[in-house]
Amino acid sequence: MPHPAPHHRTERLDQDYDGIRRAARLLRQGGLVAFGTETVYGLGGLATAQKTVERIFQAKGRPSFNPLISHFAAAEAAFAEADMAIPLRDMAYDLARRFWPGPLTLILPRHAESRLCPAVTAGLDTLAVRVPKGRAVEELLRLTDQPIAAPSANRSGRVSPSTAHHVLDELEGRIDAVLDTGPCQVGLESTVLDLTGTIPVLRRPGGVTLEELQEVCGPITVADHETADGQNHRPSAPGQLTSHYAPSLPVRLNATHIQPHEAFLTFGEQTAEGATPALSVNLSHSGNVEEAARRLFAGLRQLDRAATRHGLTTIAVAPLPENGLGRALKDRLKRAAAPRPAEPASPSA
Ligand code: TXA
Ligand code: MG
Repeated sequence: MPHPAPHHRTERLDQDYDGIRRAARLLRQGGLVAFGTETVYGLGGLATAQKTVERIFQAKGRPSFNPLISHFAAAEAAFAEADMAIPLRDMAYDLARRFWPGPLTLILPRHAESRLCPAVTAGLDTLAVRVPKGRAVEELLRLTDQPIAAPSANRSGRVSPSTAHHVLDELEGRIDAVLDTGPCQVGLESTVLDLTGTIPVLRRPGGVTLEELQEVCGPITVADHETADGQNHRPSAPGQLTSHYAPSLPVRLNATHIQPHEAFLTFGEQTAEGATPALSVNLSHSGNVEEAARRLFAGLRQLDRAATRHGLTTIAVAPLPENGLGRALKDRLKRAAAPRPAEPASPSA
């Protein structure tokens, strides 16, 4: 059965004291609650409860070999789950002091006595931890006082949600509640930095830039995303699933020339030659990359819906900046444009 029938209505909670308290209570009882972070909305559940975590995978239709990030209120609680000797410990604390709360996820060796259930880490001996930023999510994590596993709150392989509305579009009836914390401030997922080897490895570019990380860590290896295999195959390293963030229409990158059947996603003052696009979205008229990041996922969803209605067949994307946050923007668009696994994407995998 590809789509388990919706079991009940999803509660909408406001980010006031009562709403946050209700969300914390549901989480402590083993419920699934989506909430906004500074990056994207997460689909949260107790990271210590195997049954709850299995429900997260089920609600998303996520392959069980793809591990989740655990979210904490503070670095000390996050690092208590990890097994770190001195040089690694120092680097982890330096990074935490500089970037937490904030859009950085650290991959660390798992402590033999970690409370996280095996499903969260997909049975690996490493774990992914982060301390997210935002008044409501910080309060929620303090009140819950437990590690919260939270992948992005979208169906596996689809575009990540940056509003509560996006979450309900895909997960209504499949989760217990959504805490509406407004639109996300960064708009792209956290940067994933792997500290388990001798040199740190950037596994996913995100809200903290490579340049900022290098100021703290020195040399960093950038994982080669091109080697990843597509989401129905176990990737050589998790975090590098190729086809992802996919709207329903195909995406064409670095478009400088528009065909009549194409919608146009652009940035700054770039215009394209060829046909005048029937539909276009500009991610930032002033060419501000932070603004473009904040608007990317909503822009993709909006263009996808409108283009489909207008009978257009492709989303053409203008060339985008390469550095800083541009690296993460580009990564998400490359994955949106990557070859898709055969439909339907196996939700029960
Ligand atoms: O900004 C974010 O990180 C959001 C918010 C909700 O916190 N979460 C998020 O989760 O993007 P998700 O599940 O969509 O992406 C988590 C990424 C995946 O690419 C996964 O493979 C990687 O982190 N990951 C998790 N645990 C890992 C591990 N032990 N080793 C390598 N990669 C890991
Ligand atoms: Mg995701």
